[in-house]
Amino acid sequence: MILVTGATGNIGSALLKELHACGTGPLRGLTRDSSRAAFPEDVDVVEGDLAEPESLKPALDGVRSLFLVSRLGPDADILEAARLAGVEHVVLVSSITVQTHPHLGPAGENLAVERLLKESGMAWTILRPTQFASNTVMWAASIRARETVRAPYADTALPTVHPSDIASVARVALTESGHRGRTYALTGPELVSPRQQVQALAAALGRDIPFTEISRRQAHAQLAAVFGDEGAAAVLDITGADVNDELLAVRDTVSRVTGSPARTFGQWAAENVGTFR
Ligand SMILES: NC(=O)c1ccc[n+]([C@@H]2O[C@H](COP(=O)([O-])OP(=O)(O)OC[C@H]3O[C@@H](n4cnc5c(N)ncnc54)[C@H](OP(=O)(O)O)[C@@H]3O)[C@@H](O)[C@H]2O)c1
Repeated sequence: MILVTGATGNIGSALLKELHACGTGPLRGLTRDSSRAAFPEDVDVVEGDLAEPESLKPALDGVRSLFLVSRLGPDADILEAARLAGVEHVVLVSSITVQTHPHLGPAGENLAVERLLKESGMAWTILRPTQFASNTVMWAASIRARETVRAPYADTALPTVHPSDIASVARVALTESGHRGRTYALTGPELVSPRQQVQALAAALGRDIPFTEISRRQAHAQLAAVFGDEGAAAVLDITGADVNDELLAVRDTVSRVTGSPARTFGQWAAENVGTFR
Protein backbone atom coordinates (compact mmCIF):
# COMPACT_ATOMS: atom_id res chain seq x y z
CA MET A 1 0.00 0.00 0.00
CA ILE A 2 1.24 3.48 -0.94
CA LEU A 3 -0.01 6.45 1.09
CA VAL A 4 0.05 9.83 -0.66
CA THR A 5 -0.11 12.86 1.64
CA GLY A 6 -1.05 16.25 0.20
CA ALA A 7 -3.28 14.13 -2.01
CA THR A 8 -5.62 17.00 -2.95
CA GLY A 9 -2.67 19.31 -3.72
CA ASN A 10 -0.68 20.07 -6.85
CA ILE A 11 1.82 17.22 -6.56
CA GLY A 12 -0.28 14.68 -4.67
CA SER A 13 -3.27 14.77 -7.01
CA ALA A 14 -1.01 14.28 -10.04
CA LEU A 15 0.87 11.50 -8.26
CA LEU A 16 -2.29 9.57 -7.39
CA LYS A 17 -3.45 9.81 -11.03
CA GLU A 18 -0.07 8.55 -12.31
CA LEU A 19 0.17 5.71 -9.82
CA HIS A 20 -3.43 4.72 -10.59
CA ALA A 21 -2.81 4.80 -14.34
CA CYS A 22 0.29 2.60 -13.91
CA GLY A 23 -1.67 0.06 -11.87
CA THR A 24 0.96 -0.05 -9.17
CA GLY A 25 -1.20 -1.72 -6.51
CA PRO A 26 -3.29 -0.43 -3.63
CA LEU A 27 -3.30 3.33 -3.15
CA ARG A 28 -4.48 5.61 -0.39
CA GLY A 29 -4.80 9.41 -0.34
CA LEU A 30 -4.76 11.54 2.80
CA THR A 31 -6.93 14.63 3.22
CA ARG A 32 -8.37 16.55 6.15
CA ASP A 33 -11.76 16.61 4.42
CA SER A 34 -12.79 13.61 2.33
CA SER A 35 -15.87 15.44 0.98
CA ARG A 36 -13.51 17.69 -1.03
CA ALA A 37 -11.34 14.86 -2.37
CA ALA A 38 -11.89 13.70 -5.96
CA PHE A 39 -9.52 10.74 -6.23
CA PRO A 40 -9.44 8.15 -9.02
CA GLU A 41 -11.78 5.20 -8.54
CA ASP A 42 -10.40 2.44 -6.27
CA VAL A 43 -8.17 4.89 -4.39
CA ASP A 44 -8.78 4.63 -0.68
CA VAL A 45 -9.62 8.07 0.80
CA VAL A 46 -8.55 8.51 4.42
CA GLU A 47 -9.00 11.52 6.64
CA GLY A 48 -6.11 12.60 8.85
CA ASP A 49 -4.28 15.73 9.89
CA LEU A 50 -0.49 15.92 9.61
CA ALA A 51 -0.61 18.48 12.43
CA GLU A 52 -2.00 15.70 14.67
CA PRO A 53 0.15 12.60 14.09
CA GLU A 54 -2.16 10.49 16.31
CA SER A 55 -4.88 11.02 13.68
CA LEU A 56 -2.67 9.34 11.06
CA LYS A 57 -2.90 5.83 12.53
CA PRO A 58 -5.78 4.65 10.30
CA ALA A 59 -4.12 6.20 7.25
CA LEU A 60 -0.79 4.47 7.95
CA ASP A 61 -2.27 1.03 8.62
CA GLY A 62 -0.75 -1.45 6.15
CA VAL A 63 1.30 1.23 4.36
CA ARG A 64 4.78 0.26 3.10
CA SER A 65 5.58 3.34 0.99
CA LEU A 66 4.84 6.92 2.00
CA PHE A 67 4.85 10.09 -0.09
CA LEU A 68 5.28 12.91 2.42
CA VAL A 69 4.98 16.66 1.88
CA SER A 70 7.13 18.23 4.56
CA ARG A 71 6.49 20.84 7.21
CA LEU A 72 2.72 20.53 7.45
CA GLY A 73 2.98 19.08 10.95
CA PRO A 74 5.56 17.88 13.50
CA ASP A 75 7.66 15.86 11.05
CA ALA A 76 9.57 13.99 13.78
CA ASP A 77 6.28 12.60 15.15
CA ILE A 78 4.93 11.85 11.66
CA LEU A 79 8.08 9.91 10.74
CA GLU A 80 8.00 8.02 14.03
CA ALA A 81 4.34 7.11 13.45
CA ALA A 82 5.27 5.90 9.96
CA ARG A 83 8.17 3.80 11.26
CA LEU A 84 6.01 2.22 13.97
CA ALA A 85 3.32 1.43 11.38
CA GLY A 86 5.89 -0.53 9.32
CA VAL A 87 6.55 1.95 6.53
CA GLU A 88 9.68 0.86 4.65
CA HIS A 89 10.31 3.76 2.24
CA VAL A 90 9.52 7.48 2.42
CA VAL A 91 9.66 9.84 -0.56
CA LEU A 92 9.92 13.32 0.94
CA VAL A 93 9.18 16.66 -0.73
CA SER A 94 11.77 19.07 0.63
CA SER A 95 13.03 22.16 -1.23
CA ILE A 96 15.96 23.22 -3.37
CA THR A 97 16.57 26.04 -0.88
CA VAL A 98 18.24 23.44 1.35
CA GLN A 99 21.21 23.67 -1.03
CA THR A 100 20.75 27.18 -2.49
CA HIS A 101 19.83 29.20 0.63
CA PRO A 102 20.66 27.06 3.67
CA HIS A 103 20.85 30.19 5.87
CA LEU A 104 17.12 30.94 5.46
CA GLY A 105 14.69 29.71 8.13
CA PRO A 106 12.41 27.56 5.90
CA ALA A 107 15.47 25.90 4.31
CA GLY A 108 16.84 25.07 7.75
CA GLU A 109 13.51 23.48 8.67
CA ASN A 110 13.54 21.36 5.50
CA LEU A 111 17.12 20.29 6.17
CA ALA A 112 16.12 19.24 9.68
CA VAL A 113 13.30 17.05 8.26
CA GLU A 114 15.69 15.50 5.74
CA ARG A 115 18.07 14.61 8.58
CA LEU A 116 15.28 13.13 10.66
CA LEU A 117 14.25 10.95 7.74
CA LYS A 118 17.81 9.78 7.07
CA GLU A 119 18.18 8.84 10.74
CA SER A 120 14.75 7.15 10.93
CA GLY A 121 15.87 3.69 9.82
CA MET A 122 13.41 3.77 6.90
CA ALA A 123 14.65 3.90 3.31
CA TRP A 124 14.39 7.38 1.83
CA THR A 125 14.31 9.40 -1.36
CA ILE A 126 14.46 13.19 -1.06
CA LEU A 127 13.02 15.53 -3.69
CA ARG A 128 14.26 19.12 -3.67
CA PRO A 129 12.09 21.05 -6.15
CA THR A 130 12.58 24.66 -7.12
CA GLN A 131 9.73 27.20 -7.32
CA PHE A 132 6.46 25.67 -8.65
CA ALA A 133 4.69 26.82 -11.83
CA SER A 134 1.49 26.59 -9.80
CA ASN A 135 2.60 29.49 -7.57
CA THR A 136 1.20 31.74 -10.31
CA VAL A 137 -2.29 30.77 -9.14
CA MET A 138 -1.80 33.68 -6.70
CA TRP A 139 -2.47 35.94 -9.73
CA ALA A 140 -5.66 34.12 -10.77
CA ALA A 141 -8.15 36.41 -9.00
CA SER A 142 -6.59 39.53 -10.59
CA ILE A 143 -6.48 37.93 -14.03
CA ARG A 144 -10.08 36.69 -13.81
CA ALA A 145 -11.16 40.21 -12.75
CA ARG A 146 -9.14 41.68 -15.67
CA GLU A 147 -7.03 43.65 -13.22
CA THR A 148 -3.29 44.29 -13.46
CA VAL A 149 -0.96 41.56 -12.23
CA ARG A 150 1.52 43.13 -9.81
CA ALA A 151 4.75 41.28 -9.04
CA PRO A 152 8.32 42.10 -7.96
CA TYR A 153 11.51 41.08 -9.77
CA ALA A 154 9.66 41.03 -13.10
CA ASP A 155 12.67 39.96 -15.15
CA THR A 156 14.34 37.53 -12.76
CA ALA A 157 14.03 34.19 -14.55
CA LEU A 158 14.07 30.96 -12.52
CA PRO A 159 13.85 27.29 -13.63
CA THR A 160 10.25 26.92 -12.44
CA VAL A 161 9.11 23.32 -12.13
CA HIS A 162 5.76 21.80 -13.16
CA PRO A 163 4.27 19.99 -10.11
CA SER A 164 3.37 17.03 -12.34
CA ASP A 165 7.09 16.50 -12.96
CA ILE A 166 7.69 16.29 -9.22
CA ALA A 167 4.85 13.75 -9.15
CA SER A 168 6.41 11.77 -12.01
CA VAL A 169 9.76 11.59 -10.23
CA ALA A 170 7.97 10.56 -7.02
CA ARG A 171 6.07 7.83 -8.90
CA VAL A 172 9.31 6.40 -10.27
CA ALA A 173 11.01 6.60 -6.87
CA LEU A 174 8.06 4.86 -5.19
CA THR A 175 7.67 2.06 -7.71
CA GLU A 176 11.05 1.35 -9.32
CA SER A 177 14.35 0.22 -7.87
CA GLY A 178 17.51 2.31 -7.67
CA HIS A 179 16.12 5.46 -6.09
CA ARG A 180 16.53 4.74 -2.39
CA GLY A 181 19.18 6.85 -0.65
CA ARG A 182 19.08 9.42 -3.47
CA THR A 183 18.47 13.18 -3.28
CA TYR A 184 17.07 14.79 -6.44
CA ALA A 185 17.17 18.53 -7.14
CA LEU A 186 14.26 19.16 -9.53
CA THR A 187 13.79 22.06 -11.95
CA GLY A 188 11.90 22.82 -15.10
CA PRO A 189 13.58 22.78 -18.53
CA GLU A 190 14.10 26.54 -18.89
CA LEU A 191 14.39 29.82 -17.04
CA VAL A 192 11.15 31.83 -16.89
CA SER A 193 10.51 35.25 -15.35
CA PRO A 194 7.25 36.59 -13.87
CA ARG A 195 6.82 38.81 -16.95
CA GLN A 196 7.25 35.77 -19.23
CA GLN A 197 4.86 33.73 -17.09
CA VAL A 198 2.20 36.43 -17.49
CA GLN A 199 2.85 36.42 -21.26
CA ALA A 200 2.42 32.63 -21.35
CA LEU A 201 -0.84 32.89 -19.41
CA ALA A 202 -2.00 35.64 -21.80
CA ALA A 203 -1.19 33.40 -24.78
CA ALA A 204 -3.14 30.53 -23.20
CA LEU A 205 -6.11 32.83 -22.54
CA GLY A 206 -5.92 34.50 -25.96
CA ARG A 207 -5.98 38.02 -24.51
CA ASP A 208 -3.57 40.55 -23.03
CA ILE A 209 -2.93 40.61 -19.29
CA PRO A 210 -1.76 43.98 -17.93
CA PHE A 211 1.38 43.63 -15.79
CA THR A 212 3.21 46.02 -13.46
CA GLU A 213 6.43 45.48 -11.58
CA ILE A 214 6.21 46.44 -7.91
CA SER A 215 8.96 47.15 -5.39
CA ARG A 216 10.23 44.71 -2.78
CA ARG A 217 8.62 46.86 -0.09
CA GLN A 218 5.19 46.66 -1.79
CA ALA A 219 5.52 42.93 -2.35
CA HIS A 220 6.66 42.38 1.23
CA ALA A 221 3.51 44.05 2.55
CA GLN A 222 1.35 41.63 0.52
CA LEU A 223 3.36 38.49 1.27
CA ALA A 224 3.76 39.16 5.00
CA ALA A 225 -0.01 38.79 5.41
CA VAL A 226 0.33 35.16 4.26
CA PHE A 227 3.84 34.08 5.28
CA GLY A 228 4.71 36.46 8.15
CA ASP A 229 7.64 38.89 8.08
CA GLU A 230 10.48 36.37 7.97
CA GLY A 231 8.69 34.12 5.48
CA ALA A 232 7.95 37.07 3.16
CA ALA A 233 11.61 38.17 3.27
CA ALA A 234 12.71 34.61 2.46
CA VAL A 235 10.30 34.36 -0.50
CA LEU A 236 11.56 37.68 -1.89
CA ASP A 237 15.20 36.66 -1.46
CA ILE A 238 14.76 33.38 -3.33
CA THR A 239 12.65 34.89 -6.10
CA GLY A 240 14.79 37.92 -6.84
CA ALA A 241 16.95 39.68 -4.27
CA ASP A 242 19.38 36.87 -3.57
CA VAL A 243 19.33 34.40 -6.45
CA ASN A 244 22.57 32.50 -7.03
CA ASP A 245 24.02 30.18 -9.66
CA GLU A 246 22.87 27.08 -7.80
CA LEU A 247 19.25 28.34 -7.89
CA LEU A 248 19.49 29.40 -11.55
CA ALA A 249 20.83 26.03 -12.75
CA VAL A 250 18.52 24.18 -15.16
CA ARG A 251 18.89 20.50 -14.25
CA ASP A 252 18.14 17.38 -16.26
CA THR A 253 17.03 15.33 -13.22
CA VAL A 254 13.39 15.04 -14.30
CA SER A 255 14.26 13.62 -17.71
CA ARG A 256 17.00 11.37 -16.30
CA VAL A 257 14.68 9.84 -13.70
CA THR A 258 11.44 9.68 -15.69
CA GLY A 259 12.71 9.30 -19.26
CA SER A 260 10.48 12.21 -20.38
CA PRO A 261 11.48 15.85 -20.84
CA ALA A 262 10.52 18.24 -18.06
CA ARG A 263 7.34 20.20 -18.82
CA THR A 264 7.56 23.92 -19.65
CA PHE A 265 5.69 26.76 -17.96
CA GLY A 266 3.76 27.17 -21.23
CA GLN A 267 2.47 23.60 -20.85
CA TRP A 268 1.39 24.30 -17.28
CA ALA A 269 -0.38 27.49 -18.41
CA ALA A 270 -2.23 25.66 -21.20
CA GLU A 271 -3.31 22.85 -18.84
CA ASN A 272 -4.51 25.26 -16.14
CA VAL A 273 -5.98 28.08 -18.23
CA GLY A 274 -9.44 27.47 -16.75
CA THR A 275 -8.23 28.71 -13.36
CA PHE A 276 -7.48 32.11 -14.91
CA ARG A 277 -10.55 32.48 -17.16
N1 LIG B 1 5.36 26.13 -3.92
C1 LIG B 1 6.67 26.04 -4.08
O1 LIG B 1 7.28 26.83 -4.85
C2 LIG B 1 7.44 24.99 -3.31
C3 LIG B 1 8.82 24.88 -3.54
C4 LIG B 1 9.53 23.86 -2.88
C5 LIG B 1 8.85 23.00 -2.03
N2 LIG B 1 7.49 23.14 -1.82
C6 LIG B 1 6.81 22.19 -0.93
O2 LIG B 1 5.76 21.54 -1.64
C7 LIG B 1 4.76 21.11 -0.75
C8 LIG B 1 3.39 21.60 -1.23
O3 LIG B 1 3.03 20.80 -2.32
P1 LIG B 1 1.73 21.11 -3.21
O4 LIG B 1 1.92 22.40 -3.96
O5 LIG B 1 1.44 19.87 -3.96
O6 LIG B 1 0.61 21.35 -2.10
P2 LIG B 1 -0.66 22.31 -2.21
O7 LIG B 1 -1.23 22.26 -3.59
O8 LIG B 1 -0.28 23.62 -1.60
O9 LIG B 1 -1.71 21.58 -1.26
C9 LIG B 1 -1.44 21.36 0.08
C10 LIG B 1 -1.79 19.91 0.36
O10 LIG B 1 -1.41 19.63 1.70
C11 LIG B 1 -2.50 19.12 2.40
N3 LIG B 1 -2.41 19.59 3.78
C12 LIG B 1 -2.19 20.88 4.19
N4 LIG B 1 -2.18 20.91 5.54
C13 LIG B 1 -2.40 19.63 5.96
C14 LIG B 1 -2.51 19.02 7.23
N5 LIG B 1 -2.39 19.72 8.37
N6 LIG B 1 -2.76 17.69 7.29
C15 LIG B 1 -2.91 16.94 6.16
N7 LIG B 1 -2.80 17.46 4.92
C16 LIG B 1 -2.55 18.79 4.83
C17 LIG B 1 -3.74 19.60 1.70
O11 LIG B 1 -4.74 18.62 1.89
P3 LIG B 1 -6.25 18.87 2.42
O12 LIG B 1 -6.51 20.36 2.35
O13 LIG B 1 -7.10 18.07 1.47
O14 LIG B 1 -6.25 18.31 3.79
C18 LIG B 1 -3.26 19.62 0.24
O15 LIG B 1 -3.43 18.37 -0.36
C19 LIG B 1 5.12 21.66 0.62
O16 LIG B 1 5.78 20.64 1.35
C20 LIG B 1 6.10 22.79 0.27
O17 LIG B 1 7.01 23.06 1.33
C21 LIG B 1 6.79 24.12 -2.45
